[in-house]
Amino acid sequence: MSEIDSIPEIDLRPATAADAEAVATIWAAGWRDGHLGHVPEALVAVRTPESFRARAAQRVGDTVVAVAGPDRQVAGFVMVVGEEVEQVYVAASHRGSGVAGRLLAEAERLVAAGGHRRAWLAVVPGNSRARRFYQRSGWIDDGLFDYPAVVGDGTIPVPCHRYVKPL
Ligand SMILES: CC(C)(COP(=O)(O)OP(=O)(O)OC[C@H]1O[C@@H](n2cnc3c(N)ncnc32)[C@H](O)[C@@H]1OP(=O)(O)O)[C@@H](O)C(=O)NCCC(=O)NCCS
Repeated sequence: MSEIDSIPEIDLRPATAADAEAVATIWAAGWRDGHLGHVPEALVAVRTPESFRARAAQRVGDTVVAVAGPDRQVAGFVMVVGEEVEQVYVAASHRGSGVAGRLLAEAERLVAAGGHRRAWLAVVPGNSRARRFYQRSGWIDDGLFDYPAVVGDGTIPVPCHRYVKPL
């Protein structure tokens, strides 16, 4: 076996119901990393760990997970709906490792496979790590707009940058 073969790989696969708990854990922690101090307090108040558990279970069908590391645990996930790359989350211990790039490339592939020629996503202005990552991945800042964050039966407007990528 060469040295390269012994490096644990990053594998992508559609999520199953059994992944929902791991997805919720990464989502809840990553959401706080990217959003605290950058979104309305009313949104922070309702984005509880339980809310992420419920949404992760509901959204299994839209989710692709990455497994990585020697223990082959879920290291991150993306959710794609139509043209929108809705969620891109990597566990803190796997950031800067290439997992995020693999996930975003897969999300772009899924948007293109759905017949769309342009993908978009929303990111809060203060999430500079995510914004640098999207910029390095060839996404273009298309300006500010109010993203309607879903809360129960309603929405809360959250100022966000729309990033787009022609496919
Ligand atoms: C956004 C995310 C998926 C990016 O994955 P990642 O593995 O962290 O990405 P990388 O480390 O490859 O790239 C991040 C970029 O930010 C830079 N960076 C690292 N730490 C940073 C920090 N604290 N502040 C600003 N930039 C930072 C990196 O140097 C890199 O930029 P460069 O390519 O110009 O050097 C990941 O950080 C994450 O899951 N964050 C929390 C959840 C989130 O905010 N998701 C996006 C919601 S829109």
